[in-house]
Amino acid sequence: MSRGKFITFEGGEGVGKTTNVTFVFEYLQARKIPVILTREPGGTKLAEKLRTLLLDKKSEAIAEEAELLLMFAARAQHIKHVIEPALARGDWVICDRFTDATYAYQGGGRNMKISTIEGLENLVQGSLRPDLTILLDAPVKIGMERAGKRGEFDRFESETMQFFENVRRAYLLQAEIHPQRIKLIKANQQLTDIQQIIINVLSPLLR
Ligand code: TMP
Repeated sequence: MSRGKFITFEGGEGVGKTTNVTFVFEYLQARKIPVILTREPGGTKLAEKLRTLLLDKKSEAIAEEAELLLMFAARAQHIKHVIEPALARGDWVICDRFTDATYAYQGGGRNMKISTIEGLENLVQGSLRPDLTILLDAPVKIGMERAGKRGEFDRFESETMQFFENVRRAYLLQAEIHPQRIKLIKANQQLTDIQQIIINVLSPLLR
């Protein structure tokens, strides 16, 4: 049994991640590929509890170090109990956000040191890295307008435009650093065009 593939989706708020994550999940299922769909922070009972704490905007002010550690605590649970077992049994894993989000939000948004994030990434993940990351990118204003239509903002969505500009810049930097793994797709184009690009970038993994 060969190991499954690990695919992550990334992007700022309101770039259409959920629609496209679901699209890939159904695309793989239609090809009879065993696949699970999961998300971060979250994906296990404990990690979902941590997600609730992290997104709660009525929370006491969360120290940025605490935020970073909670993200990686959730990730450690998720990897150990969901992601690794699935990949080991040959299932593909599609994850709505992963560690590139930490580089973008805690690194770019909160201005935390990249070397600190790298240290935690190595501690929690060992050699685990996604096989493919699809980064959906849109101007911040467009994304926030779309996110605004979904309902009340959570703790992250309530951040300033400058925060999201920094998140976007950090995501684009990740794409420059990892051009093999991260495929950058402009999110403000027709959904059918986005999905055709996604099918094209998936095809090398399907061979
Ligand atoms: P979302 O997945 O529904 O967009 O919500 C998750 C929020 O958590 C989103 O605003 C980004 C944020 N986040 C981080 O700040 N760091 C991380 O490592 C992850 C996975 C998410």
